[in-house]
Amino acid sequence: VLLLVAVELAAGIVAASTRISYDGNQLWRIFLEDAEDKKVIVDLKKEGWISTWGGNATNLDVIVKPEAIQKVQEAFKNEDIKFEIVIRNLQEAIDAENPPVADDNEDRSGFRLNWVAYHRTTVIWDFLEYFAKVYPSLCTVYNIGQSYEGRPIKVLKISNGNPTNKPVWIDGGIHAREWISPAAVTYIINHLVAKFEEESDYIQNTDFYVAPVLNPDGYEYSHSSDRLWRKNRRPQQPDLVTGRVCYGIDLNRNFGYKWGYDGVSHNSCHDTFCGKGPFSEPETRVMRDFIKGNLSQTLDRLPKKLAAYVSFHSYGQYILYPWGYMKVVPPDYLDLKLAADQAVEAIVRVGGPRYTAGSSAVTLYPAAGGSDDWAKAAIGAKYSYTIELGDNGRYGFLLPSKLIKQTSKEALAALRVIVEAAYLKA
Ligand code: ARG
Ligand code: ZN
Repeated sequence: VLLLVAVELAAGIVAASTRISYDGNQLWRIFLEDAEDKKVIVDLKKEGWISTWGGNATNLDVIVKPEAIQKVQEAFKNEDIKFEIVIRNLQEAIDAENPPVADDNEDRSGFRLNWVAYHRTTVIWDFLEYFAKVYPSLCTVYNIGQSYEGRPIKVLKISNGNPTNKPVWIDGGIHAREWISPAAVTYIINHLVAKFEEESDYIQNTDFYVAPVLNPDGYEYSHSSDRLWRKNRRPQQPDLVTGRVCYGIDLNRNFGYKWGYDGVSHNSCHDTFCGKGPFSEPETRVMRDFIKGNLSQTLDRLPKKLAAYVSFHSYGQYILYPWGYMKVVPPDYLDLKLAADQAVEAIVRVGGPRYTAGSSAVTLYPAAGGSDDWAKAAIGAKYSYTIELGDNGRYGFLLPSKLIKQTSKEALAALRVIVEAAYLKA
């Protein structure tokens, strides 16, 4: 018994000490005015003083380490770069994000998951299994493969079996730290299943394939060790000079359309490392193989084509359509723009903020190897979108759990518009 206690204690100490603290780190919003400003930022980034969180063409959200605050402040003063401090202490925001909550008295017999807290992967998998068990004529769970660390990756199919249904893919959790994404996707699942009979025509004429956590290793790591982890968790070759081993590939740079073209890093220590080649990662491969092979088998019909593809990310409140790899738009972009604009209005109608719609390379920045580009180019998903959910930067990735429900309503409202467009036109 004593030994056991000692072992547990040691394990506890290790677990506690391996959790990264962001005490004293700050979130700054920088307003960029010209190319010179950008260069200053790039240099500060290279030297490791700041790291990027989010942003667009005009402003940039960055994390400033405590020991860098003075230096960066001075650099900005010299260059007359405008900024504001959004979060004074990142660790305090992390601690406040997902407090333990007493159950909110909702009737959710049978599963532990709810939408007042963020949940771990196994709770989400149990939620999918619950639906497959309780609604076997509507729901099927597929274990489509394994992550690098051996976790299952699950997809829930929601379908009434109508042979003329159009297939739509929805995923979440490609990026680990974007916790609202899996949460909103489970909200969508719950709605589609619970309200299926009441839902409109186009919902009943759709086969939904829903993957709420595509990157379970990263997602778990963001809960257990580093709240701001983005990539998967595959260790890379040691750096030739420093001998340092870095972890992870950015899965949203690893898909096989125009892979590596622009907006990626080839350095394994960077957050946007695209990997050694397209689909080098088990998580992206598993998704590709399911969509290309299994999907048409389970549908029992050709062509191997999706009507719509929707990937939920955060943050920034954007509805993005291809292309992401460069600042050009596909020939049918007016159809995609129309649906995106309608989705913006639908979100406002459910009490949400006004999201920004546009092609992703133009609206955000060019970034190749994204899942949305691949879904459109390789799988023929006419209506292919990346939706960046809330918020708009006040909390960034650290969206307090009390905002899950409202943000999820926004996700559902947008999804509906896209599915309707796909039903009518794809
Ligand atoms: N924030 C997302 C990312 O950086 C946007 C992806 C948009 N799609 C694209 N193909 N670039 O991964
Ligand atoms: Zn993302």
